[in-house]
Amino acid sequence: MKAHHLFVFLAISFFTCKDSKKETIKVDEISLEEGFKILNTSCFSCHNPNPQNKTKVAPSPQEIKLAYLNKYTDFDNFLEHFVAFQENPLKANAIMPEAIDKYGIMPKLGYTKEQLTAVAGYIYTSNLETNDWFAVSYPKEREKYLKTNTENNPLEIGKNIALQTKSILGKNLLNAIKTKGTEGAVSFCSTRAIPLTDSMALVLNARIKRVSDKNRNPSNAANEQELKYIKEIQELLRDGNETKPQMIETENTITCYYPIITNDMCLQCHGKMGSTMAQQTYTKIKSIYAEDKAIGYSENELRGIWVVEMDK
Ligand code: HEC
Ligand code: HEC
Repeated sequence: MKAHHLFVFLAISFFTCKDSKKETIKVDEISLEEGFKILNTSCFSCHNPNPQNKTKVAPSPQEIKLAYLNKYTDFDNFLEHFVAFQENPLKANAIMPEAIDKYGIMPKLGYTKEQLTAVAGYIYTSNLETNDWFAVSYPKEREKYLKTNTENNPLEIGKNIALQTKSILGKNLLNAIKTKGTEGAVSFCSTRAIPLTDSMALVLNARIKRVSDKNRNPSNAANEQELKYIKEIQELLRDGNETKPQMIETENTITCYYPIITNDMCLQCHGKMGSTMAQQTYTKIKSIYAEDKAIGYSENELRGIWVVEMDK
């Protein structure tokens, strides 16, 4: 009798120990799909899931999931704290406060509770925290979930990619200006801008670059086809018309062009010498980019274009 009881006890403790990481919950397919899509389009741009990624702007999804699981093993608690942080990204609501010191605070993205529940459900039930999720599961999930119209519309996809890259570059640039001043931020642009766009492209499975007819970096010079688009946009802007993206299809690729328009902030480094741009900023720029052509701009002019190339 005793032995039998002991056996039962051991069996239970073994089971709970093995499963103490998380309970088994069921999330329906529609929620999983929604959760994956939101993660893919709105979270991975900062939370890069590629373990090879070197230019981190936020903790990886693996780190986040493990930190949450470490604290909240059952889904109800996991969800509650996940949603609380998203609705109000403050240090007081964060379970990884050290990440805020390292990367700065996450912006509030404005998803509904239902959408956040779908995201949490996907994170909790998937094997996102494992080492080979990115290499093995991610391509399969993309194949499975990204099939509908807008997701297959290259102009939409490309625009999403360019917008996300832009928001991250913009956020990082503003941060660099705030912490290092305009002059110091010039080095950020030269050392970080390209790796950042590269890491975005890796996550989003596309090649992305910024080019210009008056380029600062010699490797950002527009080619003939890109120059043609640049000319068209400049004419549209000159006549006060709306700009529009363009799509170019080849046998194996789809390439999309999107205008990059200047605002007030850009003029610190792309403006007119002595009025909108300080001499010392320009000296610094010239010391890195001897061939710089990217000055003399005013607001609302075409500074260059995003080129997003995707495989068919
Ligand atoms: C613009 C970049 C950016 C985007 C986009 C972004 N995050 Fe974050 N996120 C951060 C940064 C930076 C941190 C670390 C600092 C912090 O906690 O605020 C963070 C932290 C987190 C944390 C940890 C919070 C904690 O409790 O400490 C979670 C969870 C999270 N993000 C989820 C998401 C989800 C889900 C999405 C997509 C819906 C998303 N993030 C999109 C930048 C981003
Ligand atoms: C702190 C200085 C600084 C500010 C502010 C700044 N840039 Fe730049 N920009 C640079 C530097 C430096 C490069 C060269 C980056 C590189 O090596 O790829 C660059 C490159 C570019 C390029 C790539 C083409 C080229 O000329 O090499 C574009 C497009 C661009 N900037 C647009 C903008 C826009 C639009 C803004 C405002 C929203 C802006 N920049 C604000 C410094 C700045």
